[in-house]
Amino acid sequence: MLLEMSAPTHIPVLVKETIEALAVQPGGRYIDCTLGAGGHAAAILGQSSPGGQLLGIDADPEAIKIARARLEAYSSSTLLINETFANLEAICIKYDFRPVHGILFDLGLSSLQLSDASRGFSFQYDAPLDMRFSPTQEVTAADIINTYSESELAHLIKTYGEEGYSHQIAHYIVNERPIKTTLQLARIVERATGSRRGKIHPATKTFQALRIAVNQELDHLKAALKQAINLLGFEGRLVVISYHSLEDRIVKQFMQQESRDCICPPGTPTCVCGHTACLRLVNKRVIIPSSAEVQLNPRSRSAKLRAAERITTQDEYYKTAENLCFSAEVKAGGWRRPALLKKLSRSFDSVDTFSAVNFRQNL
Ligand SMILES: C[S@@+](CC[C@H](N)C(=O)[O-])C[C@H]1O[C@@H](n2cnc3c(N)ncnc32)[C@H](O)[C@@H]1O
Repeated sequence: MLLEMSAPTHIPVLVKETIEALAVQPGGRYIDCTLGAGGHAAAILGQSSPGGQLLGIDADPEAIKIARARLEAYSSSTLLINETFANLEAICIKYDFRPVHGILFDLGLSSLQLSDASRGFSFQYDAPLDMRFSPTQEVTAADIINTYSESELAHLIKTYGEEGYSHQIAHYIVNERPIKTTLQLARIVERATGSRRGKIHPATKTFQALRIAVNQELDHLKAALKQAINLLGFEGRLVVISYHSLEDRIVKQFMQQESRDCICPPGTPTCVCGHTACLRLVNKRVIIPSSAEVQLNPRSRSAKLRAAERITTQDEYYKTAENLCFSAEVKAGGWRRPALLKKLSRSFDSVDTFSAVNFRQNL
């Protein structure tokens, strides 16, 4: 029998749930901050047609190339940018792509990156320790492994890998430097841990820690989430799929904080923070893949989807109709609840837009 070698692919995770959470609608405008192989982007464009638009961002130029080919049928309604999502707001300003109806983050790396032996993400293949999403980044995994002190390495492996054997691993690494390849590192970690590990390979957590550090993944995520709020139109949706607890914690805390009116420490007698909610949680509980999906795509097993909807802050509520309703969009009838927005717009039209204070007092 002839065995066919199939080309590596990336199977998008929680696609139906993502489309639902984004509330994708025809004519909507969306941002996919982690374009990858374009699986989610294709689903968004399919669901938002006719008239949908998509801005796709990926730090990896290879991903942009693959997604561009996949999304060719939608080329007139897509804009694909090879950049880090840490610059999300600047990208949207530069390309005049805001406000939007939905923003998606599908974090981490794609199966294509993991299975590309030359990228150094996996200990399944021997390759130089690189792990950069973008070749323009200066620091590689080899730089970190070979230049950090033992205590810095132990801290990094513990913090980003949640690895219990971080001190032993760091000690072995420092004693065996220089370390150039993935397999060399994986064997050192195996020796350091005495291969004590359940189902996962002993080097899994060390490789995760290095990848997070090389790509500053957690800092970039925090920066991008803050920027996303300013780009969402009224009732626009923010959807994030994460694959490990460090990412998920950041997303959960961010969404919870931004959906509360006061974030003063518990026990503060009166509010001093002045914080007002600008998000509403769409799902109280995190969404995870069905067992059928996990069986079909084992990589999906750790996925967690969280979604929130943009609401107006009190400040915005009292501003002009233009600011509140992003009026051009609303008058074009592009939003999900044009009737409600028209009503809001009318109440603002009935007052002098510069006398918002009077309006507030009349409520
Ligand atoms: C899990 S994959 C996305 C897969 C995609 N949803 C699909 O359906 O094919 C994550 C992608 O995010 C990209 N990425 C990770 N961090 C990034 C960042 N800070 N800026 C831009 N892209 C990033 C990676 O290069 C990778 O292609």
